[in-house]
Amino acid sequence: MRSYFLRIPMVESQFDMSPPGVVLKQMEIGPMMNFIYLIGCSETREAAVVDPAWDVSTILRIAQESDLKVNRVLVTHAHPDHINGLGELLEATDAAVYMNVNEIDYMKEIAARFRLPIEFMNRRSGNFRPLSDGEQVLVGKVPIQFLHTPGHTPGSQCFLVERRLISGDTLFINACGRVDLPGGDPEKMWWSLNRKLASLDDDTILYPGHNYAEHPTSTLGEQKRSNPYLQFTSVNQFVHAMRGL
Ligand SMILES: [Fe+2]
Repeated sequence: MRSYFLRIPMVESQFDMSPPGVVLKQMEIGPMMNFIYLIGCSETREAAVVDPAWDVSTILRIAQESDLKVNRVLVTHAHPDHINGLGELLEATDAAVYMNVNEIDYMKEIAARFRLPIEFMNRRSGNFRPLSDGEQVLVGKVPIQFLHTPGHTPGSQCFLVERRLISGDTLFINACGRVDLPGGDPEKMWWSLNRKLASLDDDTILYPGHNYAEHPTSTLGEQKRSNPYLQFTSVNQFVHAMRGL
């Protein structure tokens, strides 16, 4: 069985793409081209890590170099390549962890299935703050809105901050996340993509969970025009197409 906790030589690159009042950094870390994000408040210097994985010391070093203090973790979903640094980050920062309420049990199921060590969920249970769709959390003075977008996993969620969408494995540039893994649901993915995310403004900037495209970002407007998974008007056609992949 493959261990997701092996230390594999990492690729690190980072981009600063901050709107006013916010420090936003996109970091490519690890062997699966994950994008990990820092969202900080330019005034209070408090920050959240989105999807702590693969190399916590690098994430914390970049935070420190950016004069940011990590006190929150935002989890898009509980697949190991997005959370395999969560325990280590909690030990280092004692941060509060914001996950969708539907993802807590799923994370335990996945951990049991892959025999992943998540005893920190019991040891640090007070750090976990389950959230529902539409809730808002402040990182310093920066409001972040949570959008529940099931389909890739039951509790997948995206984060909206200053007209920027951090989309995890729900929406990629010209692609979307898999729906054939445990907990995947093509009907829910259709709704998340073609109803929920498609309702966002065209000038919303997209920040995906992996560096799978030619460019690290896009806009919702571009994706509504060019992403094949955002072109389905019928849920049945979408489900049929996804099952045929
Ligand atoms: Fe995933």
